Amino acid sequence: MLLGTQRVNARGHLEIDGCDAVDLARQFGTPLYVMDEATIRERCRAYLAAFRDRYAKFRLAYASKACLCAGICPLFEAEGLDMDVASGGELYTALQGGFPAARLVFHGNNKSEAELRLALEAGVGRIVVDNSLELERLEALAAERRAPIDILLRCTPGIDPHTHELVRTGQVDTKFGFDVNGCAALTAICRALQAPGLRLRGLHCHVGSQLLDTEAHEAATHVMVELLAAVRRQMGVVLEELNMGGGLGIRYREEDRPPSLDAFADALVHALQEALARHDFPAPTLIHEPGRALVGEAGTTLYTVGAIKEIPGLRTYVSVDGGLSDNPRPALYDARYEVLLANRAAVPPDTVVTIAGQHCETDTLFPDARLPALRPGDLLAVQSTGAYHFSMASNYNRYPRPAVVLVADGRADLLVRRETYTDLVRNDVMPERFRKG
Ligand code: LLP
Repeated sequence: MLLGTQRVNARGHLEIDGCDAVDLARQFGTPLYVMDEATIRERCRAYLAAFRDRYAKFRLAYASKACLCAGICPLFEAEGLDMDVASGGELYTALQGGFPAARLVFHGNNKSEAELRLALEAGVGRIVVDNSLELERLEALAAERRAPIDILLRCTPGIDPHTHELVRTGQVDTKFGFDVNGCAALTAICRALQAPGLRLRGLHCHVGSQLLDTEAHEAATHVMVELLAAVRRQMGVVLEELNMGGGLGIRYREEDRPPSLDAFADALVHALQEALARHDFPAPTLIHEPGRALVGEAGTTLYTVGAIKEIPGLRTYVSVDGGLSDNPRPALYDARYEVLLANRAAVPPDTVVTIAGQHCETDTLFPDARLPALRPGDLLAVQSTGAYHFSMASNYNRYPRPAVVLVADGRADLLVRRETYTDLVRNDVMPERFRKG
């Protein structure tokens, strides 16, 4: 499976938008996260077009938790997207990346007062309020300011999507948001509408992530429009924004079949139009904030093969120079991937091996990878690692985090430098009483 701008070049190497993977590994070292600019831009444009062709009042925000560093921000800015940030750190990074604050949407289920102040001082466009404590904090902060604070309320539509339990968020039993069914949502909306310094612009929900069908989104759309209609009926207010979160799944394996953007937009806009018609409700601005669908398939991780251990009759373990610290997803979500031999990419696979990480535990990265016979020094490429890989990387076992490069039309720009051992001890403090000499 080749994705985006990937191809096999005349040297038999994997190439990503004109950059030879073997050359990238030589220049930047491994493990290496490679992001393909053309694919990111194409996904942004395709997502926008699929919805705008069917529903004019559509805005797209990039959920930056999927992959964020300063140098990636200009891409989303140039493509006309807004950006979702979900912590003070993401907010700070987006601002460092020059992203216009007014186009930032600030999320989080436990925002501190300091984070809220940072967001307000920066002038973020929307704060998505998750709970009553936050509503209280914002009311207090609003009293100190002259300008009103534009907010959305995060609601929980009570929809249980079919996806891994750790990435389900729309069901009743979740820490996120105000429950729609139990009336918490209506109560919070009423309070937000009455708060003097707050300007409630609309509602938000996010049902879950890596969704491979449209059912949950459609059901949530009906619930949210019904809620908009209830607000109009009970409070006489027509809210004008409906943010339906993210969640569209991508292809990790050849057999994965996420809906196409056209099919996805068709189903969701149809559900929205139907619900609006049923309640005779005026069309709100529809907002989506996908992360994975915009950057997931644009990322490839390169690893160098090291030790190979064959257990006759059982299995062959191939260790690579990364693992749990640069990709926790197999351990967390049983995630599976396509793996290619980047330096002999035209050779057909004829063996099945288990690719292991190098951490001090059984950190199997890819069980049953179908590959040609491997040798130490070979270069492996793991597909669809653009979302939630770099952003979830850790320093477990004190491995420095990999570099991130952006490739475009034969050039490769460093976005994030590889960490060094010095970086690893930068914040360590040796208590005076333990110091030697
Ligand atoms: N909006 C909100 C409020 C979210 O919580 C999320 C994801 C998104 C948008 C973007 O969702 P996406 O379009 O990327 O599915 N670490 C997990 C994914 C966690 C997603 C959390 N929230 C993984 O590696 O699969």
